[in-house]
Amino acid sequence: MISFDEQTQVFHLRNDRFSYVFEVARGRYLLHRYWGRPLRAFRGSAELPALDRAFSPQPEDYENDRTFSLDVLPQEFSQQGHGDFRIPSLGVVLPDGTDVIDLFYDGYRILRGKPGLQGLPALYAQEDEAETLEVTLRDPRGRLKVVLSYTVFTGDGVLTRSVRIENTGEAPLRLKQAASFCVDFPDHAFDRLSLYGGHAAERSLERCRLLRGIEETASARGASSHQQSPFLALARPETGELAGEVYAFSLIYSGSFSMKTEVEQFGTTRVVAGLNPADFSWQLQPGEVFQTPEVVCVYAADGLNGMSQAFHAAYRKHLLRGKYRHAVRPILVNNWEATYFDFDDEKMDALAACAADLGLELLVLDDGWFGHRNDDNTSLGDWAINREKLKGGIEGVAASAHRRGLKFGLWFEPEMVSKDSALYRAHPDWVLRAPDAPMSFGRHQLVLDLSRTEVQDYIVACVSKILETGVVDYVKWDFNRHLTEAFSAGRAPERQGETKHRYVLGLYAVLERITQAFPDVLFESCSGGGGRFDAAMLYYMPQTWTSDDTDAVCRQAIQTGTSYVFPPLTMGAHVSVVPNHQVGRVTPMQTRAFTAMMGCYGYELDITQLSEEEKQEVRAQVALYKRLRPTLQLGTFTRLLTPFDGTKNETAWMFKSEDAREVAVFYFKTLAEPATPIRRLRLAGLDPDARYTFREYYPAQTLSHDSLGMARQSLAGKTFYGDELMQEGINIEKIDADFTAYLWVLEKKA
Ligand code: GLA
Repeated sequence: MISFDEQTQVFHLRNDRFSYVFEVARGRYLLHRYWGRPLRAFRGSAELPALDRAFSPQPEDYENDRTFSLDVLPQEFSQQGHGDFRIPSLGVVLPDGTDVIDLFYDGYRILRGKPGLQGLPALYAQEDEAETLEVTLRDPRGRLKVVLSYTVFTGDGVLTRSVRIENTGEAPLRLKQAASFCVDFPDHAFDRLSLYGGHAAERSLERCRLLRGIEETASARGASSHQQSPFLALARPETGELAGEVYAFSLIYSGSFSMKTEVEQFGTTRVVAGLNPADFSWQLQPGEVFQTPEVVCVYAADGLNGMSQAFHAAYRKHLLRGKYRHAVRPILVNNWEATYFDFDDEKMDALAACAADLGLELLVLDDGWFGHRNDDNTSLGDWAINREKLKGGIEGVAASAHRRGLKFGLWFEPEMVSKDSALYRAHPDWVLRAPDAPMSFGRHQLVLDLSRTEVQDYIVACVSKILETGVVDYVKWDFNRHLTEAFSAGRAPERQGETKHRYVLGLYAVLERITQAFPDVLFESCSGGGGRFDAAMLYYMPQTWTSDDTDAVCRQAIQTGTSYVFPPLTMGAHVSVVPNHQVGRVTPMQTRAFTAMMGCYGYELDITQLSEEEKQEVRAQVALYKRLRPTLQLGTFTRLLTPFDGTKNETAWMFKSEDAREVAVFYFKTLAEPATPIRRLRLAGLDPDARYTFREYYPAQTLSHDSLGMARQSLAGKTFYGDELMQEGINIEKIDADFTAYLWVLEKKA
């Protein structure tokens, strides 16, 4: 998969999805040559430009060759100060205050498998699943060594990259930038895709023509954030969901990040991404090594679904860990939108009884069970049970669930402390703050300083104490504000710029300890919904609460947006009450259920208040979900229609089981229209030569019985070849109600 040609000095990384090529030029410089469809061999049919470009300087040793400038050549890891005026990948300040340092090629090694990253989550692989190339660059004066790592996976369309920076000199160095990768493209005929949002409105797709100059997708919040996701893609303008070329990048990191594109004077494009340089600096002492986060790069020739499926497969095979990595997830009921802070043993017991009756599998007790937390002003940090609400303690609620055959789950927000808490009174220096400045509050809470080991130990001890009781089967790990005044008491002034990254490293250390100590517990991460929905959190916790917005229509967009990078198996999705608590919308129960069935399914409403008729409907939904769960959670996911394009009025998702035998197609229409257009839905990813029978059909509950009956009869039990279903498609019947949802289940003939 990885080869180096001594004669041409070319590295060729390849599998059956892509080739990635770079070369060592003049024995020193790493120049990027090719990334795209797999090549038999790379011979350099398109030579690198050798042009005398004005205002593009020459390195001293090549002063007489005016056609050689780092400013015009495609770089593998761009450097600063030597005349490449585009975005640098590395910023190093030397003790004398200068920041110019040479990095010359110094050798390589190829390893079977993939080494782990010190202190950071990363994709993992068995020895026979991947090959890793490490290329070493050195400063000829011996002060710095940089190792670029590349891993190619057999059969997976992803390439991972990361960088190790070592101070090999005698004096301390300061890193002001340490990107995870750089890649240069020879043109800029791209659309730039990113995911933007806000609290309760995460991950909408932004797709714009890539502009000249520098554009940035970033977070400086100390978290991967609701606002921008650590994801970026460059797609050819003609690329759609099912066809066309796309290059994409997903960072395995949960803190402040930056992903920049630069279209420069000659029309080429550079992408540089990693830690946010505006939010980072690092003292590197002699002998010390700095490891950057890893980036997962995808080249797909088969459209945005091809890109997403490459991410999904890689994250499912090489990122998720533990018992639930390949396991279907339990159907839960969460009491948050059911009771908020207003619950007691009796209420929880009633929820448990009802959940068992409806066929649910996990009862989750959300916020408010500890300290004197009856609202969100208080008690974070004091993880002792509130006996006024729960006389039987956690054990009591857990027993009530377990007795009924349900698992039991508990909410924590361990990284935070309320001003009104015993913990804050005892350790006011344990929070992030600037000693001589006022503090900023978010939801009345402060952020614990996870860069300190005593704070890490405190969190591990508090959470472990409760999990050691053995009664908790699931943990929801929340994080409800971002980092401000990110300074650490006692840290030397010149090291304060390290605090945000050290916070994230501290968090990973805590998560590693806790998740390893309790391997049977299912962990779901959360940050006011999906404010830290990133690949790094998924390495520790295999699912994430996708959004605090539980409205079905909003969720169709949020979940579709999330699916560009993350597989449905990682998205928490619940049916909630109407009128919806976030937007007040009233949607049919079926629409809420079908929307939530995309992810790790659950109910988040007071199920004890449902009418008998509604309970019957829930029982039927639960039975249907259990039947389809392996296909929905473990199958291949395809977006057929997205709420980001076309009429912005429709969404359609398709799931194909692992053995390709069962196919589930969901279609949602937001608003009904007069003179309803004739609508065809074309399926995708089927075997064109195989026959598929329509086994089940769940039409929307619309007013017009005619249209209903007709569509149901026209397809039920009928069999078609895959090519017809993909080319000709199926009709969507006339719709005369808002917020409708449909489901077809097909079975492939043996
Ligand atoms: C966050 C979560 C919610 C809920 C509340 C509890 O907002 O996203 O699901 O747990 O906190 O305070």
